[in-house]
Amino acid sequence: MALAPGQTPIVIGLAADSGCGKSTFMRRVTSTFGGDVCGPLGGGFANGGWETNTLVSDIATVICLDDYHLNDRNGRKVSGLTALNTAEQKFDLMYEHVKALKEGKTVMKPIYNHVNGTLDAPEEIEPTPVIIIEGLHPFHDERVRDLIDFSLYLDISPDVKLNWKIQRDMEERGHSLESIMASIEARKPDFDAFIEPQKKYADYVIEVLPTDLDKEDKKTLKVRAIQKKGVPDFSPAYLFDEGSEIEWTPSADKLSSPPPGIKLAYRQEKYFGNDVAVLEMDGNFDNIQELVYVESNIGNSNSRFYGEITQAMLSLADSPGSNNGTGLMQTLAAFAIRELYNKKTAAAKLAANKETAVAA
Ligand code: ADP
Ligand code: G6P
Repeated sequence: MALAPGQTPIVIGLAADSGCGKSTFMRRVTSTFGGDVCGPLGGGFANGGWETNTLVSDIATVICLDDYHLNDRNGRKVSGLTALNTAEQKFDLMYEHVKALKEGKTVMKPIYNHVNGTLDAPEEIEPTPVIIIEGLHPFHDERVRDLIDFSLYLDISPDVKLNWKIQRDMEERGHSLESIMASIEARKPDFDAFIEPQKKYADYVIEVLPTDLDKEDKKTLKVRAIQKKGVPDFSPAYLFDEGSEIEWTPSADKLSSPPPGIKLAYRQEKYFGNDVAVLEMDGNFDNIQELVYVESNIGNSNSRFYGEITQAMLSLADSPGSNNGTGLMQTLAAFAIRELYNKKTAAAKLAANKETAVAA
């Protein structure tokens, strides 16, 4: 969708390591905005194909920051640095492009081709009302950070990351367990040095941990949405009663779950010195339809009608995380982004109307 006269795009940043569910999350966000979603994302690994790193809906454009790699794969062999190293990213160009898009200008964005590891001919990106930049380093550069209206970080704990990687690389791609462990170990120092430090800047962190309900269970997840308080145009979602401390085991008749069961919580905490509201879901549910029971007890969910969260989860039922807190928290984050967009658009319209009135 073209920008309305005077409309400024909002910029959303999403940071995470690779294989942490960014593409999956982005699909939930773009489907919230409606419109046709075309083109695989993040190199299209999940789609089994590769065309472009950019995913576009009617309202939102998702730019994969891998396109700002300084060197191609061969170049990284020469430099001896990984793609996680900030020395391997073109932050000046990233900044210029995000700034230009925010000013409503079209840019020629480079393309990193994940299949053969080359930097391909740039593609034209037109500004849309929502621009999402996702990748390894959206919050590293202060100039880029200052352009971002809402920032999210997917924080997948090491145990869970290993499990997901095993699932994808061993079961789907035939890699050995040793090679998967070795690649995680090799990446870890750079992850610790260059990716993780960005989480302190995030307004919304989705933390994914092993369940607390059964210490032996390595598959079930506990998911925490860590929501910063005081962010303009963002009101953290809550359970039952805003500002309170709650632990809730839903009635098994209304929300059935496989062992080890399901538990929700809502807490007020500090995160890197900031006040945050934390919404937690530990465990899986059996039927997405029954999530409406949980939904009816969530405040500030930004849904437009009763049951919209459950409906959004149902529409992406085959995506990873649709039976647990990862899908729920990602959907809540997607709705928060939509609300941010609605509020900024309304404010811009009001300002434009005032200007017209003053001029007349
Ligand atoms: P990224 O874009 O960050 O590389 P993807 O969205 O492609 O990550 O996800 C990578 C893999 O991780 C998927 O193939 C899937 O196996 C696993 N995965 C992602 N999100 C989840 C989730 N919420 N629950 C379980 N597995 C997940
Ligand atoms: C990791 C990073 C990607 C990056 C890729 C490059 O997977 O998370 O963001 O594009 O490395 O490595 P490659 O295998 O293409 O050389």
